[in-house]
Amino acid sequence: GRNRRGDGGVTEMENAKERLAQAVKEAEEIVYSYLPAEEGHQKTIFEAMNYSVKAGGKRLRPILMREVYRLFGGQGKEIEPLMAAIEMIHTSSLIHDDLPCMDNDEYRRGKKTTWVAYGYDMAVLAGDALLIYAIETAAKAFAMTPDAAKVGHCIQILSEKTGIYGMIGGQTVDVELTNQPIPKDKLDFIYRLKTGALLEASMVIGAVMAGASEAECGTVERMAAAIGLAFQIQDDILDVTSSQEVLGKPVLSDEKNNKTTYVTLEGIEKSKHDVKQLSETAVDILYSLPGKNEFLEELIEMLVSREK
Ligand code: IPE
Ligand code: IPE
Ligand code: MG
Ligand code: MG
Ligand code: MG
Repeated sequence: GRNRRGDGGVTEMENAKERLAQAVKEAEEIVYSYLPAEEGHQKTIFEAMNYSVKAGGKRLRPILMREVYRLFGGQGKEIEPLMAAIEMIHTSSLIHDDLPCMDNDEYRRGKKTTWVAYGYDMAVLAGDALLIYAIETAAKAFAMTPDAAKVGHCIQILSEKTGIYGMIGGQTVDVELTNQPIPKDKLDFIYRLKTGALLEASMVIGAVMAGASEAECGTVERMAAAIGLAFQIQDDILDVTSSQEVLGKPVLSDEKNNKTTYVTLEGIEKSKHDVKQLSETAVDILYSLPGKNEFLEELIEMLVSREK
């Protein structure tokens, strides 16, 4: 429980929302500054990439990356290409996730999905393009830091958490097991990879770039894993309790695709309970780290009650 401050009825939660809005604005400026100019013969791919990234979204991954960087005392601009890179990779995963051969969804971030707006061919290419342009972008951090080795380490983390041992591995099992019952342990595996891995990458990269120790990076990874699982469970909850207007993407997508989700397996009450418990675990882990970042703590708490 947080207390009302004596400053004219402005609650800390409202302050936190303002800080979040500011953080989103800053993250977007950074991400957009690395997007390609829409010119040249291959202009269509640039347009499809920029359309998908600029459509909106919570920008959670770059924000978390920078807040963990700050938690460990990071202050430089060296983090910025990596913030752009993680949002590009995340957007790439959404473009492909929405394709007719995957979840077959037509709205994302309040706009037509990339395949609806640009065709299947361009959507596949735009997803591929963002994935590899993310690495090209991340590599720009080499020239912005006195410690190039840590950028190499971050690119390794980015690749591993995106690929077959991360997001793509998770999406593989998720897609393969559509129309099938999934036991809890396998569902946890899917969530840890398809959603958790990119959140782990975001937060661990923030720690590595700020010079955190190996043990601290391991702790950050555990915190991010808890956040990732909570985040995907909440996504499943919102798929049945929210509306397209609020979410910016269709509701009941999981039911349409006959997917086993945390909600179908555990029920809505247990799901809500677990989101809360996992985020408490994440905050506890945050407290165990040296340094303090109140905004990061607020962010984790806001995720429990997020409506989109
Ligand atoms: C959606 O991620 C896909 C999941 C991993 C659940 P977000 O909910 O972060 O999507 P945006 O970036 O805000 O659109
Ligand atoms: C997908 O999970 C996570 C990704 C790696 C894209 P979902 O399929 O539930 O994500 P949404 O609901 O379409 O955003
Ligand atoms: Mg999916
Ligand atoms: Mg989907
Ligand atoms: Mg979903």
